[in-house]
Formats: sequence, structure tokens, C-alpha cells
Amino acid sequence: MAVIDYLKSNRERHLQELFAFLRIPSISAKSEYREQTRQAADWLVERMLEAGLQIAEVIPTAGHPIVIGEWRGAPEGAPTLLVYGHYDVQPPEPLEEWTSEPFEPEVRDGKIFARGSVDDKGQVYLHLKAVEAHIAANGKLPVNLVFVVEGEEEIGSPNLQSFLVENQERLRCDAVMISDTTMFAPDLPSVTIGLRGLAYMEIRVQGPETDLHSGSYGGAVVNPANALAKIIARLHDDHGRVAVPGFYDDVRDLTPEEREAVRALPFSDEEFRAGVNAPALGGEEGWSVLERLGARPTLDVNGLLSGYTGEGAKTVLPARAMAKVSMRLVPNQDHRDIEEKFIRYVREIAPAGVTVEVEALHGGQPWYADPKEPIFTSAARALEKAFGRAPVFTREGGSIPIVQAFQQIFSAPVVLLGFGLPGENAHAPNEWMSVDNYTRGAEAIAMLYDEL
Ligand code: BES
Ligand code: ZN
Repeated sequence: MAVIDYLKSNRERHLQELFAFLRIPSISAKSEYREQTRQAADWLVERMLEAGLQIAEVIPTAGHPIVIGEWRGAPEGAPTLLVYGHYDVQPPEPLEEWTSEPFEPEVRDGKIFARGSVDDKGQVYLHLKAVEAHIAANGKLPVNLVFVVEGEEEIGSPNLQSFLVENQERLRCDAVMISDTTMFAPDLPSVTIGLRGLAYMEIRVQGPETDLHSGSYGGAVVNPANALAKIIARLHDDHGRVAVPGFYDDVRDLTPEEREAVRALPFSDEEFRAGVNAPALGGEEGWSVLERLGARPTLDVNGLLSGYTGEGAKTVLPARAMAKVSMRLVPNQDHRDIEEKFIRYVREIAPAGVTVEVEALHGGQPWYADPKEPIFTSAARALEKAFGRAPVFTREGGSIPIVQAFQQIFSAPVVLLGFGLPGENAHAPNEWMSVDNYTRGAEAIAMLYDEL
């Protein structure tokens, strides 16, 4: 097949191009990387035009720009696919834990190590290489394509939804294709049919105006760190359930068939535990690890700050304490509703003697797909051809805040074809993407165009 031959013979060049992409530190969360983030958008537009897209442009937003690419030369009646991804990355810290530089890609052991390799530059770029292969080998594509690649996914996509609504006509499509998730296991291709939503909160506790001597004041002035610990201790009950009143009201339980499908996946709790070197696993009683991750909502402290944390001892009663808390949500919870319930509850349990402020920082809705839509059959066939094995359908614990909006705005199915792997260290030091999956991913996408 000419398209696949093209991908194979251009493998090394395609890898080098990805490296160039990975060298641009497009860290959306940090304002000092604004220029570099913009540079990544410009770079991508150039590559889109080279690959043969008819239109490619950088569209400014109130934050980081959105990259749009289009190819619309398919025969009458051919479907239009919208490919979504993101060119922004998470901050690389802690830097001292990286084996090689985060923005200087290095291949070791068949893995491309770099910030953004798997999340999501490698997974975006393999789509573009699939397009290039079709155009180079056949002069055309069997489908119409629109790329929407944003620079703010890692900060909650604050400007994308309004862009999609305003450009609904231009972006109209029959299906949305996203590669920003992981395969269930090596060599086991996967279609993700559920993502959790997110409500991300900050709790700020203020006590006295400044830090105080813990001997002269301790015991008489309410300590904000103690107060915050009390609040956090009341966010779960003794069975691992979230204690925010009404938290579970809208949770849709898995059907018996869905539970069975989860049970049938090849998964070992012990391997999962050993993979992260945790002393033991924990969570909500009555649910398996996979159910806890994919089908149950959760609440976790993501950050804590208060008092003296330097070397040795300092006897001090801190003036303030702060916690960042994320809640991962499942259908049919609504992140705004959960944010309100959280704020109400934390205010209610706030100890006397301190002031407590609670703020929602960002959120996204949970999503799940109906895998009976015909496009899932085509996707499964393409993955099977590329990987030699039929894919599994999985629910993932992470979030892509815009997915639910895509489904709603365009009334189109969203198909998540992920080429990451367990242990890929996304958001952590030493993030990697498998070289093999980068190439096989491009082949699978190229085949998918033909299937459609
Ligand atoms: N690629 C991830 C989403 C993901 C993670 C899917 C794990 C499946 C498994 C994405 O880039 C991401 O990190 N999303 C954030 C969203 C947040 C910043 C609003 C997340 O899940 O924390
Ligand atoms: Zn991410």
C-alpha cells in the first residue's frame, strides 16, 4: 500500500520533525513562555502547509492562539473529520528528576523522552504525517479534514468553547478524532469511550495577620494549618467516599454489562501498584481499581502549603494555609454544580477563628461515548490492521475538558484513539512516547481515512 510504504520510508525524517516540535517549550501555564507557545503554533502552521493542507492559520484568542488547518478536496459525499489536539505542554518541573533535558528530545530504549512527547505533540503530529502520506502517495485524501490544535488544553481550554461556537459553520464535521489518551497495555490498541470531568478548587485559610511565635501564641490563636487539616480530613468519610453533601446525586451507575466489560479487561491490581511503587492501593470501598479510575468520581488534594518547610525546625504559628483540590467527575455530574456544593460544604465545616475562602479555578464536564455508533467499528478495524490485534474499549481517569463540548456543539461522535502507554510519565519528569507507537499510530490513522 503506497501510503504505508511512504510512512515507512519517511520514518526517520518524521521523527526528526517531531523532535523540532518538542524543542519548542510551549508551556501554556507560564506567562514567560508566551512567545515560545506562539512559536509552536507558527511552526505547526508551516508544517501543515508543507504536508499539503490547503489552508493553515494561527488564530489569536484572549490567551494562546488556536491553529486551524483544512483540506477539503474529497469526493462528493465523503465525510468531514475534525482532528483536535493541543500543542501546549505542562511545566517540566522538577527539573533535577529528568534524565535528559525536557526540551531536548532523546531516544532511549525505543522511547522518545521529552516534555510533550506523548501529551500531546507526538500524538498530534502523527495525524499530520498520515495526511502527508495520503497526499504524497495519492495526491488526495479520501475524507475532508479540519485540524483544530489549541495551545491551552493544559490550563483548561478557557477560550476554545467560544471559538467552536462562533466558528460552528466553518468547523462543521461528521466526527471528531482525538489522540490524547493512552493504550490500555503495550501492543493492545485502545479506543477510549469515557473521560472524567474536573472541578479544580483552591482553599485559602487566613489566621493572624502575620506568622507568630508558636510558644507565645500557640494554643490561644487558631492555627490556619490545623484548621485546613481539619477541613481536608472531613472531605472523605471512613469508607473512602467523598463527604461533600450531594456529591453523588447525579452519578450514573455502570450498567451490569458495563461492569462486566471493565472486569473483562486484562488488568492486574498488583502490577498497577508495583508500577508506581506505592505501598498499597486505596480508594472508595466496593469498587475495583479500574472502576475507581474510570467510572467513579474522586477528590484529591493536589497541593498543600503552610508554615515553615525549610531545613531543621522553626517554631512558628503560620498566618495562612492553602490547598489545591481536584475532583474528577463522571457522567452525569456537572462541574459547576459540584463546585457550588464543594464551596458550600467547606464554608460550613470551616473552624471558627480563621477566615476561609474557596475558589473554583477551572473545570470540565465528564464525557462518555456510545460505542455502538458506526464510526467506532471503522476505528476498531483500522487499529486492528495497524496493530494486528482488535482494540479494547476503555474509560480513562483523565480529562479533556473540551470533548463534551465537541459532541454537543457539532452533534458528532468523538473518537479517542490514544497512542500513549501506561507509565508514560505525562505531566511528570521523564515523559516519553514509544517510537513504535508514533509510527504505528500514523499508519493506523492513515488506514482509518480509507475505512471511512
Ligand atoms: N492527555 C491528557 C488527558 C488524559 C490524561 C487522558 C490521562 C487520559 C488519561 C490531557 O492533556 C490532560 O492532562 N488533561 C488535564 C486537564 C486539565 C488540565 C483541565 C487533566 O486531565 O488533568
Ligand atoms: Zn496533559
